[in-house]
Amino acid sequence: MSRGDAIRLGLVGAGFMAKLHTFAFETAALRFPASCPPVRLTRVADLDEDLARSAAAELGWEAWTRDWQTVTRADDIDLVLVATSVASHVDVCVDAFAHGKHVLCEKPLARNSAEAGAAYDAAVAAGTLHATGFAMRHWPAVRLAERILAGGALGRLVKVRAHYLLDWAAPADLPISWRFRRASAGSGSLGDVGSHVLDVMRAFAGEIVSVYARLQTVRPTRPTPTVPGHERVDVDDAADLVLEFDGGVGGVMETSWAAPGHKTDIEFELIGDEGALRFSWARNDELQVAARRPHGSPVLEIRPVAPEDQDLREFAPAAGTALGLSELFVLQSRAVLSGLATGRWSGPDFLDGLRVCEAIDAALTSNEQGRCVPVLRTRG
Ligand SMILES: NC(=O)c1ccc[n+]([C@@H]2O[C@H](COP(=O)([O-])OP(=O)(O)OC[C@H]3O[C@@H](n4cnc5c(N)ncnc54)[C@H](O)[C@@H]3O)[C@@H](O)[C@H]2O)c1
Repeated sequence: MSRGDAIRLGLVGAGFMAKLHTFAFETAALRFPASCPPVRLTRVADLDEDLARSAAAELGWEAWTRDWQTVTRADDIDLVLVATSVASHVDVCVDAFAHGKHVLCEKPLARNSAEAGAAYDAAVAAGTLHATGFAMRHWPAVRLAERILAGGALGRLVKVRAHYLLDWAAPADLPISWRFRRASAGSGSLGDVGSHVLDVMRAFAGEIVSVYARLQTVRPTRPTPTVPGHERVDVDDAADLVLEFDGGVGGVMETSWAAPGHKTDIEFELIGDEGALRFSWARNDELQVAARRPHGSPVLEIRPVAPEDQDLREFAPAAGTALGLSELFVLQSRAVLSGLATGRWSGPDFLDGLRVCEAIDAALTSNEQGRCVPVLRTRG
């Protein structure tokens, strides 16, 4: 694939994420033409005809359909973006790979590791690009933290702490939807937002080898949206995990979508034996770093993510001009498009998606059995 050829996109799922992905791929192609091929918004599919039609009319997709296989099997589509509710991820991905497509699939990759393993096997057999939508990994401060850790400034990594807390699901009158059903989502806040931070923690500390988890369902029932009544919720609203990583690194992860007052509250901290660093989404263009010094103990300093750190001049002319969620997705799209142009993909892939599903499986078992559970690696 040469840089001049347009990448023909197919989108499956025209819900909340459709706008972000459409904006992100168009913007990446426009703002980063040296590394990204142009894109065509070829076809969008959604089971909900109104959503599919309005994605075409309002977001600029050339054609719409209710039938996702019209995307996965099409000769005029190169890259399939999978942004459906989690239950259909594996079927859509496997079919897309069987028809030679590149795939970016939203997180969590699947409801469980058995499904994620099937998607990973199909990706490997196809030999095409496979990316899991762990967008945080493309965030400049996360990449800067990786470089600081790799450069040895923190010494030996001892512990990783992270949380991802939200409050949109705190209201008791919020109606039930696919996210609150294990059959359609696999888990609750743990897979929905915990998967992002578990993946980021892995990027620093290596694979998760064991998990002790305590899950809570804050709202055990929620109103049904169309008829009067309530339905039982069988997933977590909140999860606390104690983790062990390869090499004995420790970890603590908290997640919730029902924590009043928390608005996209994402933080992580790396604690080494000679220094530490901390990231907070609230100040997402800087890191707090207490790095090793030749003499004396580490001193805390603010390390801005300057544009020159990450080739961000297209967005941020100077350090301190904050980026936001849309730019995060543009950076993810830029990575995918330049990966297609070069034939190399170093971002989070389906093995990363599978590893996180394996850790979540272990967390669910741990919560059920009240004990620490080893993470079973099913592939790789
Ligand atoms: N990366 C992030 O930060 C982020 C943020 C939000 C959601 N997500 C992920 O994106 C995915 C979608 O989430 P959302 O919030 O957009 O959900 P949503 O409910 O708003 O949209 C999902 C859409 O998929 C459609 N759909 C379901 N099965 C389908 C099928 N077989 N064929 C065609 N369409 C189908 C539904 O009709 C719905 O319109 C989920 O995996 C979610 O976890 C990621």
